[in-house]
Amino acid sequence: MIGKDVSIAVNYLNTKKLVAIPTETVYGLAGNALSEEAVASIFAVKNRPSFDPLIVHIGRPEMITEYCQKVPSMAKRLAEAFMPGPLTLLLPKRPIIPDIVTAGLSMVAIRIPNHPLTLELLNRLDFPLAAPSANPFGYISPTTAQHVEAQLGDQIPYILDGGPCTIGLESTIVGIYDGQRPVVHRKGGIATEAIEAIVGPVEVKAHSTSNPNAPGMLKSHYAPRVPLVIGNIEELLAANKDKKIGVISFQQWYQDIPQANQVVLTKTGDFKEAARNLFAGMRRLDEQDLDLIVTELVPDQDLGRAINDRLLRAAA
Ligand code: TXA
Ligand code: MG
Repeated sequence: MIGKDVSIAVNYLNTKKLVAIPTETVYGLAGNALSEEAVASIFAVKNRPSFDPLIVHIGRPEMITEYCQKVPSMAKRLAEAFMPGPLTLLLPKRPIIPDIVTAGLSMVAIRIPNHPLTLELLNRLDFPLAAPSANPFGYISPTTAQHVEAQLGDQIPYILDGGPCTIGLESTIVGIYDGQRPVVHRKGGIATEAIEAIVGPVEVKAHSTSNPNAPGMLKSHYAPRVPLVIGNIEELLAANKDKKIGVISFQQWYQDIPQANQVVLTKTGDFKEAARNLFAGMRRLDEQDLDLIVTELVPDQDLGRAINDRLLRAAA
């Protein structure tokens, strides 16, 4: 069931049931992070391999030290700048966080989502919420309650509807090593440039492929069912004239293609708007019974870097 009633969500979560929750990035599939039983059912519903750890969502910055042992000053500065917001910090976990949440790793991923309904929800619970994106493993992340309903609706009792996600890309994951070496593990809703403005130069290790210890970074991910290829759109259209083809372009419409088969991410070149439209656009085209989706990389700066990361994974 879809609804806007936080009390219903509280009741289900208190009995170890799962609830889909809105965040500013993507919808999450949430359960009590301190309950092995609830967390196990998250992995089961998503069909997610147990080696892929979950993010723990909290309602207030003061809660970080309840679940993490040590917070380096760089992490504190990032938390002050971006929490609540699309930032996830990797920090050494306390034993209260079950190993199943972190897939046995010693670091836990922590984030404060910036969405009023979910912040209210978190502050009414006496435990944090483990929540991966609310999509079947490997598919495109959901950015509306209806996206969640279409795929997981029959497996979970409640979807808390907070409207369409305002960021539309998952959080940026940052780890701090030896107290001073910041590493971006997943490009996301906060641009690398913005992280660097707070902590100085960062290493970006977001391109590893099959190493399950590298966060969320399996090469093929966020993928539609229809094959997606990246390149020069004009050339790809010319080379695939015989096919039923869809287009995801950064800024431009293509005359010979029906509008229903096209997604223009942003008419004005605004990266935020493009990010917000990306996953919903991929889903819309995936429902059009196409042979192929062609797309192009966007300028590799600001949120464009995270958009390109998702496009490359969708094409892999
Ligand atoms: O924006 C987001 O982060 C969304 C919303 C729902 O909060 N969540 C999300 O979760 O994208 P998920 O599970 O789809 O992606 C989280 C990624 C995973 O790929 C995982 O590998 C990485 O975070 N991760 C989680 N815990 C980790 C840990 N302890 N060490 C390294 N990577 C971790
Ligand atoms: Mg995900």
